[in-house]
Amino acid sequence: MSRSDLRRGEVLRRAVALVALAAALGLAAFGWWSSRLGEYSVMAMGHDAAHAAHGGAGAGGVSVTSLTADPARRADVKVELVARSGTVEIPGGRSVEGYTVNGTSPGPTIRARQGQLVEVTFVNESVRDGATLHWHGVDVPNAADGVAGITQDAVPVGGRYVYRFVVKDAGTYWYHSHQVSHEQVERGLFGALVVSPPAAPAAPGSRSPVDVVALLHVYAGQHTLGGRAEDERVVATPGQPVRIRVVNTDQGTATVWSSVPYRVAAVDGHDVVGPTEVVDRSVLVPAGGRVDLMVTTPADGSAARVHVGGARSVILGPAAAAAPGPVAQPREVLDLLDYGRPAPLGFDPSHPDKTFDYTIGRRIGLIDGRPGVFWTVNGRLFPDVPMFHVREGDVVVMRLTNNSDEVHPMHLHGHHVVVLSRNSVAAQGSPWWVDTLDVRPGETYEVAFVADNPGIWSDHCHTLPHAVDGLVAHVMYDGVTTPFTINGAAGNQPE
Ligand code: C2O
Ligand code: CU
Repeated sequence: MSRSDLRRGEVLRRAVALVALAAALGLAAFGWWSSRLGEYSVMAMGHDAAHAAHGGAGAGGVSVTSLTADPARRADVKVELVARSGTVEIPGGRSVEGYTVNGTSPGPTIRARQGQLVEVTFVNESVRDGATLHWHGVDVPNAADGVAGITQDAVPVGGRYVYRFVVKDAGTYWYHSHQVSHEQVERGLFGALVVSPPAAPAAPGSRSPVDVVALLHVYAGQHTLGGRAEDERVVATPGQPVRIRVVNTDQGTATVWSSVPYRVAAVDGHDVVGPTEVVDRSVLVPAGGRVDLMVTTPADGSAARVHVGGARSVILGPAAAAAPGPVAQPREVLDLLDYGRPAPLGFDPSHPDKTFDYTIGRRIGLIDGRPGVFWTVNGRLFPDVPMFHVREGDVVVMRLTNNSDEVHPMHLHGHHVVVLSRNSVAAQGSPWWVDTLDVRPGETYEVAFVADNPGIWSDHCHTLPHAVDGLVAHVMYDGVTTPFTINGAAGNQPE
């Protein structure tokens, strides 16, 4: 080859490379541009994911705004909650910049009795991005679900929103903002909600249990219980039962264990049937989940220690008793798949009307113009994820499979699901009802629920940074519509 041939070859190669580069850039730009979401309605998302055929939306349609508690019924419990941005004081630690509810984080614990109508007036005094309240684990009517862009607009600074719902199930719940939730929840916009059973006359001679909320959160690296970076002292007399309501508002699984035997009395606001005594085992509480433990204060006048999440403990016993030292974390974990006694579910999941797959993976891509490694649902990137269409009354089975290498606490709004099996091993204990379920790498859970609460319901991972990175899908009832949009003038950003 002559020199000029060489040069010509070089020029040609460069030209080809340039064209290829331009094409690649063009493609990337197009990909970026087309991945940008702009304003959108959740109703336009995804595709039908049912294995069974469905009838499609009926004529007309019901707006989420009309799915409310009986407007004529008077409220039994009325609360005003005011959200502010500012300094969060952390007793025992250093204060952080974040959000408070009525001046503190966590906000006040709301207490109600089963069957009561709770009415919360939420006021946003100074949360710049707007805020909402979602009632995590309470199967509220859709209009009270608090998801910005789906069930309401984010409440702007100076605005208010009234949430009304009947608390049908006794148990331990919590509330938190569902606007820019990965940031607002992490920085303090939440609190606990405790629903007690209808008052029963105390049995003669019985000692009523001490009731403790052990709400766990990490503020800028500081592990806290009830907003304090220190152990929680609970005064109880020797032999007295104590109910410890562990609420995990943090982003990862919490491990709980105790120096004395305990029973798991309830999970996610549902009582365990026939809970037996647990010794030498930890119990795991998913991010967003709750577990109620029953422990008995030692009869000999000493104190007991319940480790909540590794860094903090609840110490219970007489005021004068010394706090016992830490106890080693048990190697074994209590498996709720075969804990307690079987009991009727109240419905038959063996012939479901709908069966859905919710398979979690991960890949490189673009979401809303943002490149990254994102979570996928059934192989697809948000918002092109499946839409789980149901009809009121459907029995629904969902298969949650985790093909990624991180745990995902999967949370369905508006419903409790019962675990049928894990990795094809059928549940054998008490019905295991959850609203938040840790699905570990390689696991498949089959869960079932009855579609008995019409609306549009988020079904997402409660490690909230995962939700922002695409781990969100929805259960949508046929015929239900929403007037709200995401990314529009109201600035709704639920995740
Ligand atoms: Cu506790 Cu959709 O959230
Ligand atoms: Cu996750």
